[in-house]
Amino acid sequence: MKFFIDTANLEEIRIASTWGIIDGVTTNPSLIAREGNDLLGTIMEITTLIDGPISAEVQEASAEEMVEEAFKFARLHPNIVIKVPMTFEGIKATKKLFAYGIKTNVTLVFSVSQALMAAKAGATYVSPFMGRIDNFAKSDRAGADLVEDIRIAFDNYGYETMIIAASIRHPEHVSQAALAGSDVATIPYKVLLEMIEHPLTQKGLEIFREAAKK
Ligand code: G3P
Repeated sequence: MKFFIDTANLEEIRIASTWGIIDGVTTNPSLIAREGNDLLGTIMEITTLIDGPISAEVQEASAEEMVEEAFKFARLHPNIVIKVPMTFEGIKATKKLFAYGIKTNVTLVFSVSQALMAAKAGATYVSPFMGRIDNFAKSDRAGADLVEDIRIAFDNYGYETMIIAASIRHPEHVSQAALAGSDVATIPYKVLLEMIEHPLTQKGLEIFREAAKK
């Protein structure tokens, strides 16, 4: 399973890159806006920190406009993946970008039928949003079920589109995504920090430290 970091914060990416277990980065307009930095500059800087797929999101527009904006991102670095919204214009843009050999990540996916449309258009990745669908459905299994169902549907037809479990709120989402067979989890920095923690690990360390003193 690949771990991407879901942030546009350069310091978080810098720290996480030193762990050696981060395979890529996803950004979106909200994450870029939160940092208040220039969009292309931020994406360019990220390419120097992580050698893996880096998703940069185009603004919702006509397919032609999204393809134009995608070219600007794709020209920056070969690792750039174009994040495209789950709309008919987004599907058309995905199909065109596929023809140009540009990788895409269709985002804001909340159903199997949406994921199938993205896969048929040649999306490299689809991003089902676990946290947001859990909140919408008022269930702590809705995101897990969505990822699991997309996995089954893709496997039924041999689609190579990879699943990125997104909108991850806590470590349990990462476990659910892994058990559902997600190819990737894109994880906020805060959740990555939580993932390494377990009370028994801390307790065990204290016991070993005491023993080492004797
Ligand atoms: O990057 C896409 C997604 O992971 C954002 O999730 O719901 O925290 O805004 P959310």
